[in-house]
Amino acid sequence: MNSGKTTRELQRIIEAAATSDGAGVKLRRSLGQSPYARLDPFLMLDEFSSFDANDYIAGFPAHPHRGFETVTYLLDGHMLHEDHLGNRGDLKSGAVQWMSAGRGIIHSEMPQQEHGRMRGFQLWINLPAREKMKPASYRDIDPAEIPVVTLRGGGRAKVIAGTLETDGQSVAGPIQGLATEPLYLDVELPAGAAFKQPVAGSHNAFIYVFEGSATVGATAEARSLATHSAGVLAAGDLVEVRAGAEGARFLLLAGKPLGEPVVQHGPFVMNTREEIEQAIRDYQSGELTR
Ligand code: CO
Repeated sequence: MNSGKTTRELQRIIEAAATSDGAGVKLRRSLGQSPYARLDPFLMLDEFSSFDANDYIAGFPAHPHRGFETVTYLLDGHMLHEDHLGNRGDLKSGAVQWMSAGRGIIHSEMPQQEHGRMRGFQLWINLPAREKMKPASYRDIDPAEIPVVTLRGGGRAKVIAGTLETDGQSVAGPIQGLATEPLYLDVELPAGAAFKQPVAGSHNAFIYVFEGSATVGATAEARSLATHSAGVLAAGDLVEVRAGAEGARFLLLAGKPLGEPVVQHGPFVMNTREEIEQAIRDYQSGELTR
């Protein structure tokens, strides 16, 4: 039925842990809550969601990054982004900012609303050693640039990175051609609806459910994944997800593992301890952003 493809079963569940970051933004961290909760090339996934301005208004004042990419996907709300290069971007509901910190960026990410819901995600994707010291760069992706695909079995998928291949459709998202070949889909399914997407056998993949629940895997083996949980998928080349009784909304993320050592010190992610010490010295001396 699946032309010889092997369905990826649910291998490990990482329940998001409540934490706070920046100047006190409340969030849920799944990947990245410990060094053992990474999935190469993905370092971290934070979900923020609140109707209470006290949970988000302090935002993320000026802070540095080196050695990886940050992907901010805003579902609800309005955030202003500014960096040391003078770039200024207005992130609105449905927009994505794909930032490659490279050798260094100092930026702020500040909510621009005092009422209503602020909801979205920040994903950290590692850079290969050869790209960690390249100049910083950005892509601000308008909601209109993100394809929304109606699924035959009900529901819809937004294609942020990589290519959706389901129901005989092939739809490319705005982000293509990166070293880690990321797939980033936002999928919404009504109760009981199924979704299938091929993912290269050599890539790592996980699902993060943020509304409802889903079962993941081939029908006979499928395991359930609750809201605010990341499900790391086992080897295979096909992802199969079925929505639970209240429907499901989830992110499907996949990427090519780098297979390189990861040494992290807060917002610096390099390959060796020496490179981290250099990053700290460069930040202190101003060299990080020169
Ligand atoms: Co940042």
